[in-house]
Amino acid sequence: MEKDVLILAIESSCDETAASVVKNGRTVLSNVISSQIALHTLYGGVVPEIASRKHIEKINQVIEEALAEAQVTLDDLDAIGVTYGPGLVGALLVGVAEAKAISYAKKLPLVGVHHIEGHICANYIENKELEPPFICLVVSGGHTHLVVVEDYGKYKILGRTRDDAAGEAFDKVARAIGLGYPGGPKIDKLSKEGNPDAIAFPRAKIVDAEYDFSFSGLKSSVLNYLNSCQMKGEEINRADVAASFQKAVTDVLVQNAVHAVNSYGLKKLAIAGGVASNSSLRAAMKDACAENGIEFYYPSPIFCTDNAAMIGTAAYYEYMAGVRSGLDLNAVPNLKLGER
Ligand code: KG4
Ligand code: ZN
Repeated sequence: MEKDVLILAIESSCDETAASVVKNGRTVLSNVISSQIALHTLYGGVVPEIASRKHIEKINQVIEEALAEAQVTLDDLDAIGVTYGPGLVGALLVGVAEAKAISYAKKLPLVGVHHIEGHICANYIENKELEPPFICLVVSGGHTHLVVVEDYGKYKILGRTRDDAAGEAFDKVARAIGLGYPGGPKIDKLSKEGNPDAIAFPRAKIVDAEYDFSFSGLKSSVLNYLNSCQMKGEEINRADVAASFQKAVTDVLVQNAVHAVNSYGLKKLAIAGGVASNSSLRAAMKDACAENGIEFYYPSPIFCTDNAAMIGTAAYYEYMAGVRSGLDLNAVPNLKLGER
């Protein structure tokens, strides 16, 4: 029998300090997440300087917890995986420096991981049978990408957002209707009490790039609607606004993703990133996939939002492919998917 491969993964690209121990790529032995959301809520969004300081405060404790929960020590590990981009540079640096220190002290191989690759790989954790190739829709706070996962570690970007990311649109609209940060989960919840067909918000289509997205027009349309209601002294039904906005986002995401799967003839679609935990998106995607004979894959909500287990899974496949980072690994805030 082959020896198990144990990877300690670290994630600190935004406002979660996270560490996880992953066995053989798909078995999560621990998944510890220290969220700073409550802290940033005070400011209505993530404050980079505060995020970096908090990561420094928490990272050792989070790693110790992850090792203890997995019942392993640093001596049992085969490699260290760490997110080195994209993200907030000061936040990324904390994880990268920590990973390099452990790698040096324990003479462990170091594997730098792309954050979006991590989100995509979150799908492997609970779907043991999922193998590339497939199409993945990545919808997070900073990214909206439609990707062909050609093989492990091999990605082709079909489309991306031209302006706001899907999660960013959720956060901005939530702020406009007074729901606070982070907006996605709050809009998701409030939408359940609203009518998704109450207000006709636009569905953007990009004429010269069939897989691209645009959400800034939709966001402006929501803001205009709110302003015009205020000017006319009309009462705003926030649940209807939330539900109608959410439906507009969902429609476009589902349409583009299903179109991509059908065009590429892959018959497998996965979703990833914080917005992939949205209940309306999951339900609409499930229905559309059933109608089109597409296998639909999605991670549990805890693996959709930022976590280190997904980084451990991505690191495993990179490690098995022979990828190693040197101690000169640096944070790359605008790292492109597929680049090293
Ligand atoms: O993937 P993630 O944790 O961080 C980034 O890499 O950006 O995504 C965070 C984003 C935020 O914009 C948040 O509002 C959104 O995901 N989000 C949601 C939901 N849960 C989180 N958006 C819609 N519905 C949700 N249930
Ligand atoms: Zn993320």
